[in-house]
Amino acid sequence: MKFFAIIASLAALAEAACAHPHKPHYRTTKLFGVEVIDTDIVRDARATIRNFDGFLYKHSMRTWLFGAAALNANQTLKDSVDVELHAVSTILHDLGWDMTPGSPWVSSDKRFEIDGALGAVKFVKGHKDAKKWDEYRLEKLHDGIALHGSPGLATGKNTDVANILASIAYDNPGSRNPAIPEKDYNAILKGLPADDIGYGTNLTWVWLAETKPAATYNTIVEPFGTAFVPGYSAIGHRVFDLINPGFASQA
Ligand SMILES: *[C@@H]1O[C@H](CO)[C@@H](O)[C@H](O)[C@H]1NC(C)=O
Ligand SMILES: *[C@@H]1O[C@H](CO)[C@@H](O)[C@H](O)[C@H]1NC(C)=O
Repeated sequence: MKFFAIIASLAALAEAACAHPHKPHYRTTKLFGVEVIDTDIVRDARATIRNFDGFLYKHSMRTWLFGAAALNANQTLKDSVDVELHAVSTILHDLGWDMTPGSPWVSSDKRFEIDGALGAVKFVKGHKDAKKWDEYRLEKLHDGIALHGSPGLATGKNTDVANILASIAYDNPGSRNPAIPEKDYNAILKGLPADDIGYGTNLTWVWLAETKPAATYNTIVEPFGTAFVPGYSAIGHRVFDLINPGFASQA
């Protein structure tokens, strides 16, 4: 009895010492100097993208690492997000870009964000640790990926989705977001150079417009088809054309 009482009070002390007793303590590792979560499902997500094209692998990894570095720099923020969900979402967010012939992730009829969202949820549901993912966690995984190609749509959603989207945006062309410490930013870019991301995005989106044009109308991919794919025309497929039938043919 006494023994159990001591154990119980020690446990209470340990909880009191920890600001967020309900948050699990995950195994971590360091990548390019950035501390990151290193659970089995995160390792397996990394293994899933390891053989993707170099530009895609690096983009996916930078997205995760930039996001992790920003979270590490703000403990308040980090305490408010699910870091394992953040890792799996960012690492897998562009499954729909996999140009490998016969890719299990790429459909013939869905936009790339949805291939990514459905693929990531399928990956988690098929994982040995799937029981740790309830419906709400899976929904956030889906939303964080599905909404990433249409800026503005996710505004006002939860903190987890907001941080997944922010992390994906950290790898957009342009300068460092100040949320990412400069030292981490430079180390990540040195390890995973971003010199081919513009080329790779263009290549992939032209490929999407060529191979499944119907899944690109009314999306951010559409102008790539219009500019670079012979015979591609969104006219007649746009919401604009539904409202103004015949307008394009008069022009
Ligand atoms: C850290 O994150 C919190 C929660 O999002 C935010 O309110 C705060 O401004 C951030 N602090 C800094 C220094 O960016
Ligand atoms: C995008 O792809 C088109 C078609 O292959 C090519 O003409 C253009 O130069 C590419 N742009 C970039 C930035 O790679």
